[in-house]
Amino acid sequence: MYRKLGLVAAGAAMALALAACAGGGAGGGAGGGGGAGGNAQQQQPGDLLVGVAMPTQTSERWIADGNAVKQQLEQAGYQVNLQYGNDDIPTQSQQIDQMITQGADALIIAAIDGTALSSQLETAKSQNIPVISYDRLIRNSANVDFYVTFDNFQVGVAQAEALLTGLGIKNADGSQGSAKGPFNIELFAGSLDDNNAFYFWNGAMSVLQPLLDNGTLVVKSGQKAIEQAAILRWQQETAQKRMEDLLTSAYSDGSKVNGVLSPYDGLSRGIITALQNAGYGPTTGGGANPMPIVTGQDAEIASVKLISDGVQSSTIFKDTRKLAEQGVIAAKAFLSGSQPQANDTTTYDNGVKVVPSYLLPVVTVYKDNIQKELVDTGYWTAQEVASGQAG
Ligand code: GAL
Repeated sequence: MYRKLGLVAAGAAMALALAACAGGGAGGGAGGGGGAGGNAQQQQPGDLLVGVAMPTQTSERWIADGNAVKQQLEQAGYQVNLQYGNDDIPTQSQQIDQMITQGADALIIAAIDGTALSSQLETAKSQNIPVISYDRLIRNSANVDFYVTFDNFQVGVAQAEALLTGLGIKNADGSQGSAKGPFNIELFAGSLDDNNAFYFWNGAMSVLQPLLDNGTLVVKSGQKAIEQAAILRWQQETAQKRMEDLLTSAYSDGSKVNGVLSPYDGLSRGIITALQNAGYGPTTGGGANPMPIVTGQDAEIASVKLISDGVQSSTIFKDTRKLAEQGVIAAKAFLSGSQPQANDTTTYDNGVKVVPSYLLPVVTVYKDNIQKELVDTGYWTAQEVASGQAG
């Protein structure tokens, strides 16, 4: 933006905003990518290009995010270059390099590895291109201007509470449930190169640790550290394999798993497959070998169907339409020379600076509120829930 709007930036207010945003180095007017018209004061949204880098298409939530960001930016008149990095760091780095070469005026990035984009961010900074970190915080760089996300610690808290509710230790209203345990649980975490994985884990452990300490919950495998529980790149197959290994190593004495903390629906499906292959389920309740309580996140349609069928217990719904909206609001603000409004300026220290953030709330979805939270809000249709497939 600063390049194409360089002339506008002559205004004192703008210069101040730029200095605040770009750490004082904003000069505007670096060459290249000057766009149409020559007179920056006549720049219209249609002259401005936003690069949108998403991590992968293997998870449908990122497809939904990418589509929603693109659609909303285009509706506002901007040009958009949307790319998916195929969960491959060099691919994503190259895509962002290309966006910059193309003359991107702002970047919205959901990083694959939150620490791997330093050189791209350096270039963006040198060309005064604002960078919005999308859902996943970009770490160890001063060149991140804004962060749009959900309350990630709260996601972990909600996942742990959903696990306790499923087990009957708590009631859905938060009050003490009748179940006393002890219950065997296993813990899964996300990808350690994703900052969110730590927030989810810490949020969940803030709820679970006291119950682990007093013996209500038992991690029979003994694998209680995030490094042991982590699944690289959030891969479903890796989660399935780890669950299979846990079942073999810790449960071949005939003991049963009662619950699994899973931080993401893709992992949950891998975990459920492993459990089903070992004879658990298919439904909760009844039977000698019921499906354990399995949590999740993202309200992916395949998991929503599993919840509807009573196989997966819960998910955390993060409305990607609303996140996209905040990403677009932030981009628009930067592109018009102002600062997006943060609602959290203390939590997200990326190792170099606290990145001003906009956090959205999350909703726990069980079988009984799929209709209200997902269907009535237009996120999924009743047919999609019934078929387990989008579209
Ligand atoms: C996280 C994100 C989760 C989930 C996960 C796997 O960064 O916050 O919602 O999508 O990645 O894609």
